[in-house]
Parts: sequence; structure tokens; C-alpha cells
Amino acid sequence: MRTVVTGSNGFIGYNLCKSLQAQGHEVLGIDDLSSGLAENVVPGFRYEWVKIQDKERIAALFQEYQPDVVFHLAAIPRVSYSVEEPFASAEANLIGTISLLEGLVKAGLAGKARLVNSSSSSIYGGAEQMPTPEHLPGSPKSPYALEKYQAEEWGRLFHHLYGLDVVSLRYFNVFGPHALFGGAYSTVLSAWLYHIYVDPTYQPFLEGDGTQTRDFCYVDNVVQANILAGTRPHSFQGEAFNIAQGQSYSLLECRDMIEELSGRKLALEMRPPRVGDVKHTLADIAAARRELGYEPTVDFLNQLRSMAEWYRLAYPKT
Ligand SMILES: NC(=O)c1ccc[n+]([C@@H]2O[C@H](COP(=O)([O-])OP(=O)(O)OC[C@H]3O[C@@H](n4cnc5c(N)ncnc54)[C@H](O)[C@@H]3O)[C@@H](O)[C@H]2O)c1
Repeated sequence: MRTVVTGSNGFIGYNLCKSLQAQGHEVLGIDDLSSGLAENVVPGFRYEWVKIQDKERIAALFQEYQPDVVFHLAAIPRVSYSVEEPFASAEANLIGTISLLEGLVKAGLAGKARLVNSSSSSIYGGAEQMPTPEHLPGSPKSPYALEKYQAEEWGRLFHHLYGLDVVSLRYFNVFGPHALFGGAYSTVLSAWLYHIYVDPTYQPFLEGDGTQTRDFCYVDNVVQANILAGTRPHSFQGEAFNIAQGQSYSLLECRDMIEELSGRKLALEMRPPRVGDVKHTLADIAAARRELGYEPTVDFLNQLRSMAEWYRLAYPKT
């Protein structure tokens, strides 16, 4: 299939491009390299430096390339940035998504091409119901979460207005190789591995007592969900699916596992809980299993080992 990957040079986008290549698909990568790395390219793939909110350029590229599927990962996925710079954040995350939706329609691809949109568990805003199902009303607590929430709604609207085939995938705390520390989402896993393998002078810390739990999702599972969503024979109508592992670990358990894997002690500076921090996340992934055939691997220790190996051997030199 002919695919476009927006955010192709970022953490998830690069992992997705590698899998699409392994499965013999064609890819046009689109990225503005605002946080993605120029070196994250798959040999043989075409890349274009484009800001997704440049709607004329996007429509022209879609018209020329005629994709079957657009995997939309480009975003500025930073909650704190979105609070400080709501306009710039919304331009990339919401207007950028509308630009892609409009580009598909203007290129005459409604009913022909599919958009697989990257959404986020942040739209739940700390739901109390565990595991959290998709039908709970959204409760975004930051501009970033609101942008993701609204982008899903725009996808549904474009389905109703133009018959566009759109689906949204709500990722929970993604981790794995190519997740940079300090970048986008920077989980504690990135921060602690960075301290151990890259820069021992960086002081690792823990906010709160470490009993908070997260449904961490290995990047290969997110890639799997994207490809399943991209290749499902029958079309979508703007539905959204949780993409996670359906299991959660406390940050203290994560610390213990990283110490076990690395053979090093993590001397964490204990800090007060972060204001507004969500205590627990755990996704209900029954709908993704049923509707997409999603079957995540859930071997957390080995997944963590693969990420640690990447930090040890391949973390980009600055
Ligand atoms: N990593 C996670 O835990 C997580 C969780 C939930 C949702 N998501 C979503 O998944 C997607 C991918 O996230 P990621 O972790 O790979 O982030 P990332 O920052 O590593 O990748 C995003 C890529 O998009 C590019 N980009 C940013 N703004 C752009 C623009 N206006 N035009 C073109 N390119 C642009 C960046 O240069 C980067 O290469 C994002 O939409 C994010 O919101 C990620």
C-alpha cells in the first residue's frame, strides 16, 4: 500500500516507517524536524520537509502521491509547552490535523484514502474508571489534551460531511527504542535510563511516593495497532480506540526492574507530587482487540530490556 507518515522522523513515526518497510509498503515521510531527527530515515523512502499546517503543500502532495493510508503522527506532544504556547501548540496539533483532513478531501481522496490519527489517553483527564473504556466523556486538562480531543471530533465531522475514512488511536504512555529523553513525552523510563547509560551527571528524580501506576505501552504495539488500523478491509467512521497493554506498573516497580536490568542503583531525588498528576492509568483495550485484531505483547521486563539496550548502545550523540 502507498502510505504517508506524518512525523516520520519522530519516536513512533520512525519505528512505524521501519515496520512498513519490512512489510513491503511504500512510504512518503513528512516532517518539519522540529523535534524529529534528520538521521531517522529509512533508506529508499521519500521524505519531504513540510509543516503539516501548510495546507496548499499538503493538498498538492496528496494529489500527486495518491496515498491509500495517511498515518498521522506529527505533533508537538508536550503538555507543558501547550500551556506556555497554546497558539503554536494548537496550530501544529489541531490546525495541522484539519489541514490533513482538508487536503484529503481537496485531493479527491474521500472514500479512497484512510487517515489513521494519533490521539492520546490525556483526553480522559485522569478518569476514575479503571480500566478506562473509550465511551467515557473526555475531560481534557491541558491545551494539548483538548487539541487531541478536538482533532478526533474533526475526524468524525469530516466523515459525516465528506465520507472520509478516519480512525483515531488513543495511545497510553509509549516507551521503547528511539524515545529520546527530554523529548516529547519523556517518561520516567527515559529519564532514568538516560542517567544510567548516557549522562550520569543528570540527577534522576521521583515525584510523589512512586505508587502511582501507568499502563505503559511498548512502541511495537503502537506500530502494530497503526498497521492493523491502516489495513482493515472495511472503512472507519471516526471511531477511537485505546492502544495500551491493559496492564499497569507502579513507578517503584519500574525503578526496581531498571535496577535489576542494569545492575546499577538509582539514587532518586524524592520530590513532592506533581500538581494535577494522574494517580493511575489503565486502559480497556477490548474494543481494539475486537475491532482491529490488536494483540499487544505484554512482556514488560523484556520490553524494558530492549529500550535499555538502545540507550546503552545506540543513544544519539549530542
Ligand atoms: N509518545 C507517547 O507516549 C504518546 C502518547 C500519546 C499520543 N502520542 C502521539 O503520538 C504521535 C507521535 O508522538 P511521538 O512520541 O513519536 O513524538 P515525537 O515528538 O517523537 O514525533 C513527532 C514528530 O512530528 C514532527 N512535527 C512536529 N510538528 C510538526 C509539524 N507542524 N509539521 C510536520 N512535522 C511536525 C516532529 O519533528 C517529530 O519528528 C503524536 O501525535 C503524539 O501526540 C504519543
